[in-house]
Amino acid sequence: MPLLELMLFVLVLLIGLSIVWSTLRTGMSPMMSSRKACQTMLAAIEKPAAGTLIDLGSGWGTLVIAVAKQYPTQQVIGYELSWLPWLVSVIRKRALGLTNLSLYRKDYNEANLSNASTLFCYLFPKAMNSLQEKLQLELANGTRIISNTFALPSSEPTSVMRLKDFYQTPIYVYDWKNTKSPCEEQQTAPGAKVN
Ligand SMILES: C[S@@+](CC[C@H](N)C(=O)[O-])C[C@H]1O[C@@H](n2cnc3c(N)ncnc32)[C@H](O)[C@@H]1O
Repeated sequence: MPLLELMLFVLVLLIGLSIVWSTLRTGMSPMMSSRKACQTMLAAIEKPAAGTLIDLGSGWGTLVIAVAKQYPTQQVIGYELSWLPWLVSVIRKRALGLTNLSLYRKDYNEANLSNASTLFCYLFPKAMNSLQEKLQLELANGTRIISNTFALPSSEPTSVMRLKDFYQTPIYVYDWKNTKSPCEEQQTAPGAKVN
């Protein structure tokens, strides 16, 4: 096999392995939201309140770039663990000159979401369970959450939109209301002192 072909083969193999590895690590492939899903999620923002718009698992940048373009005066953040999709999203952001967009290669579980005005996600059921607990501890009431396909397990959506696609994919919209009392929060917060 000529050297160039061998190098290409190794490169493609490494890319494939890296995607498989990060899928095993996060439990979710870096599949992007469809065009219809992006349009519907953008429409669901309505008019964002002051605060940051955050994509939890921003993948290749498909949704987060569309959000940053639509709201050039607001701060937009994407958190992504998988390095290749993250790198591609950073290249796309630079090419488009989106100065209001920050893309971090970081676990969103380690990010503080308390300043968010809008959260986006396209995750999977297990991640939605742990996300619910994180939101319970950090999120201000009224924060809008827009989730592609998967619902939060213990919150009532404000609305559910169905895409006109084969699966009639649901897009869940929540206006966050903290259901736990401050006393319960203290009991469940990591490191909380129990008397
Ligand atoms: C289905 S993709 C969605 C991408 C993008 N939000 C979109 O709608 O096009 C989900 C992404 O979340 C990322 N992800 C999963 N868990 C994560 C975590 N804890 N922190 C950061 N990224 C995560 C995955 O690597 C994957 O790229």
